Amino acid sequence: MCGIIGYTGSGSCAEKLLRGLDRLEYRGYDSSGISWLDEKGKIKTVKSSGRLSLLREKLGEALPKSSCGIGHTRWATHGAPSDENAHPHCTDNVSVVHNGIIENYFSLKEELIGKGYTFDSETDTEVALKLIDMYYKKEKDPLSALTSAMSRLKGSFALGVIFRGREGELYAVRVGSPLVVAFGDDGNYIASDIHAFLDKTDKYFRLEEGEIACVCPRGVRVTDRDGRERSKEILTAEFSLSAAEKGGYPHFMLKEIHEEPRIISDTARSMAELPIDKIIPWDILDGIIKEEGNIRIVACGTAMHAGLIGKYYLEKFARVSVEVSYASEFRYSDPIMHQGDVLILISQSGETADTLAALRMAKERGVFTLAVVNAVGSAIWREADRSLLTLAGPEIAVASTKAYSAQLVLMYTLAAKIARAAGRLSEEAETAICRGLSDTVPKAVEGIAARDREIKRLAEILSEQDNAFFIGRGIDRYLVTEGSLKLKEISYIHSEAYPAGELKHGTISLITEGTPVVAVITDKNVADKTISNIKEVTARGGEMIIISSDDIDIPPELSKTVFRIPSIGIKGNCEKDYSGIFIPFSAATALQLLAYHTSVLRGCDVDRPRNLAKSVTVE
Ligand code: G6P
Repeated sequence: MCGIIGYTGSGSCAEKLLRGLDRLEYRGYDSSGISWLDEKGKIKTVKSSGRLSLLREKLGEALPKSSCGIGHTRWATHGAPSDENAHPHCTDNVSVVHNGIIENYFSLKEELIGKGYTFDSETDTEVALKLIDMYYKKEKDPLSALTSAMSRLKGSFALGVIFRGREGELYAVRVGSPLVVAFGDDGNYIASDIHAFLDKTDKYFRLEEGEIACVCPRGVRVTDRDGRERSKEILTAEFSLSAAEKGGYPHFMLKEIHEEPRIISDTARSMAELPIDKIIPWDILDGIIKEEGNIRIVACGTAMHAGLIGKYYLEKFARVSVEVSYASEFRYSDPIMHQGDVLILISQSGETADTLAALRMAKERGVFTLAVVNAVGSAIWREADRSLLTLAGPEIAVASTKAYSAQLVLMYTLAAKIARAAGRLSEEAETAICRGLSDTVPKAVEGIAARDREIKRLAEILSEQDNAFFIGRGIDRYLVTEGSLKLKEISYIHSEAYPAGELKHGTISLITEGTPVVAVITDKNVADKTISNIKEVTARGGEMIIISSDDIDIPPELSKTVFRIPSIGIKGNCEKDYSGIFIPFSAATALQLLAYHTSVLRGCDVDRPRNLAKSVTVE
């Protein structure tokens, strides 16, 4: 959701800004630009719509020599992707890059027009810029201009700012949207996230709500809204640079899918010994088990789909009912929540605006919040009552894959631990689930990733099409919801997922000769029912791609395009049949690879699909 970078130091800023933007492009990539202070202290700016390569072209070979500047890569909110709307936005005195949304931009714009300001872009950012400019002209001091402007701006925003004649000074403002400050050998940085400068330094701190940093080559001063100085603890980033590189794979997405076995195992091991009361306090858990309190899972996109799998296993193992909601709906639905409930927030980035808002809402009502996040120190990680970490490491491809698999591990573990606490799962079964997650599942997923070629053949069927449908029942229904999202995200094929039994209630009217339908059948209990639904599709000319567990009989006439997944689960002395419970991991990986190959075959930009952004810090 827009990437911000800034540098001030003894080196030259342009290449550092461009390299940082390259790493931040996953946040948005429809235009980019940089501003710097020239040798006379004047602001210079170059910006371009389109990918970063076009900005590089515009800048040419001779990059500016300046040692202080800011840069931006945009995900358009106010105004189309164009040169005019690209950041930085500048006056003679100030240059601003912005991530977030200024909600009261319209009334401020009218006020500024009344004071003689004119506007060249459709952005809310230009309003913030001119407001800062107005205060700067009045107060002649960057910090007080920023403080005054901040008190007038509503919404969520992170700003990077430079001022004419203030050589070596870089300002960063955080209200809602994330910003970090980092310390390098030859200068200091600001950025939307730490990946932007990991090749230069791993020492950083996060700005908190309402803080302003004045970053200079030799030091950083942080103040709050009232001008009080704040001391910051410097952290060491735990990610290595290799996470931000493709490591021989053609795309980050493929690399990240291949990392899943290790990530599943690491995440499972990190959870195995964690007692349930370190996750949810006993008194609250007791209420949940007695059905006095409820569990709700709230998230967005792929994380929400992981929540659906969580619901399935919490209900199956622990027999507690769980509601799953999109965060964007939940926050405005006047949800019924009481003390004694548990709200589980799932988020890869830990910064998603709607998920964060849902968390804050629950906390205000005294509801216990449990976060499942992939970024230590992110807002959701810090603000939740308890936080669990998915050990997926940085995920660079916009389409989430390895983070989803890690989220599934946490969902299974949580379900097993709550079930055990409720006395609804034996110790033996709980141990077997935890062991299966760390040993059996990673091997199975590795096996699927190694069958890349087979999946590519299935992708050839899909890649020629404009529409596709996904069907499944029970747990498979939740898997296809994610499989369908993956496909449309990166291949631009219109795709919809349905409970298999629901297709005939309307959507089957869209099935004609050759319409591709992907069916997932891993749940033995409903396999025959899904097969009947598949027959309804083929009777109307639909072309099936079936992903099924190898212990399910598929009629020979349907087995032309079947991808068989070894059944994996828990064998032995369990109270129920848990023989196939781990297949969703293998099926999820197969669906991810199906989307991946379809995207590659269609010549799409796999890692940076159009219109999307990885971290969505606006609502
Ligand atoms: C964006 C991303 C998705 C992600 C969703 C939620 O839409 O493109 O991949 O699932 O945000 O993000 P979060 O960081 O909260 O998991």
